[in-house]
Amino acid sequence: MDTTTLRNRFRRQFGTSGDLYFSPGRINLIGEHTDYNGGFVFPGAVDKGITVEIFRNGTRQVKLLAIDVEDTPYLEFSLDDAQKPERHWACYIYGVCKELEKRGVNVGGFNAAFTGDVPKGAGMSSSAALESAFAFALNTMFADGRVDKFELAKIGQATEHNYCGVKCGIMDQFASLFGRKGCLIRLDCRSLEYEYFPFDPQGYKLVLVNSMVKHSLGNEYNERRESCEKAVVLMDRQFGSVETLRDANYEMLEAVKDGLTDDDYRRARYILDEKERVLAVCEALQEGDYELVGRKMYETHWGLSRDFTVSCPELDFLVETAQKCGVTGSRVMGGGFGGCTINLVRDTICDKFTSKIRREYTKKYGIIPEIYQVVIGEGSRRLQ
Ligand code: GLA
Repeated sequence: MDTTTLRNRFRRQFGTSGDLYFSPGRINLIGEHTDYNGGFVFPGAVDKGITVEIFRNGTRQVKLLAIDVEDTPYLEFSLDDAQKPERHWACYIYGVCKELEKRGVNVGGFNAAFTGDVPKGAGMSSSAALESAFAFALNTMFADGRVDKFELAKIGQATEHNYCGVKCGIMDQFASLFGRKGCLIRLDCRSLEYEYFPFDPQGYKLVLVNSMVKHSLGNEYNERRESCEKAVVLMDRQFGSVETLRDANYEMLEAVKDGLTDDDYRRARYILDEKERVLAVCEALQEGDYELVGRKMYETHWGLSRDFTVSCPELDFLVETAQKCGVTGSRVMGGGFGGCTINLVRDTICDKFTSKIRREYTKKYGIIPEIYQVVIGEGSRRLQ
């Protein structure tokens, strides 16, 4: 990441220079919508993210320059403001300050500028990268790094819940903060135990294809979560000890089927299926069976599309085209409703695949998809 523009803009705006921090976006190999259901996820940080330059200003004012925002890139708020800022992008930073304060950190005023190269609305967690960058920086500046990284991830998640209207799980912020170069991380979202898995599939590449359909998670995401919670309530009432869908099985779900709408039932069933797929993928990875990993990715896609209903025609088209090209695995990644597909592609067909999918998608939708080769990078850090 070239920080020259950031440094220049910061100096021009604030007349000083500050410290630099970086937090990445993420990919997720498998385990989608399982995080808020107490299940497993398999993310990794990428080499793209948000870079922040930041300097304390000794007041109660927060002065922000969002370099990539076209209208209103500059704004200020006071740490004493009871109302969140009007601009959505600033709510992420306001939320992080408030959540740090709730945990006893004495946040002071600061000047900050930030920029990023993780595509927005692409399912690569640009918002978690932003929250994690500020949470990490402010924790270093105002609490000597006292708040641990899990708590920082929870601060990002609480920011989404309380200030941005998305009832997300913990995966994105976790991956951004805990990422490690060359590794995917299996996280158990119930116990929060995690394990690093070196991921270097010989003969394959991970490729993202951005449908360029901008997703913004909000009501539709929250509705999926509510469907899962409704199923949990009924099963808990009937069987006891069902806190999340992690504790449920197919028999239990069948037993409460009549009390659920068809949508709620199918969404809950998708989660049970996905729970099994993640475990199958763990085993397949240990055995180096990438063909099986790929098959599971396709299954996840069609589960997300038909049962969990978070896909869209453009994403389905990308997955179908990938399959026709002989791609090993392909599926929508992240929350859904647009954004990227993640593709496990054999080296030997990679160039052919990328040119074909670019051509076919452009022909069908009149939009040129962006294509990125995944580089699995380090998590949040201070830059020198
Ligand atoms: C979004 C959310 C995550 C997770 C994914 C779906 O990225 O922020 O918590 O639920 O969707 O797996």
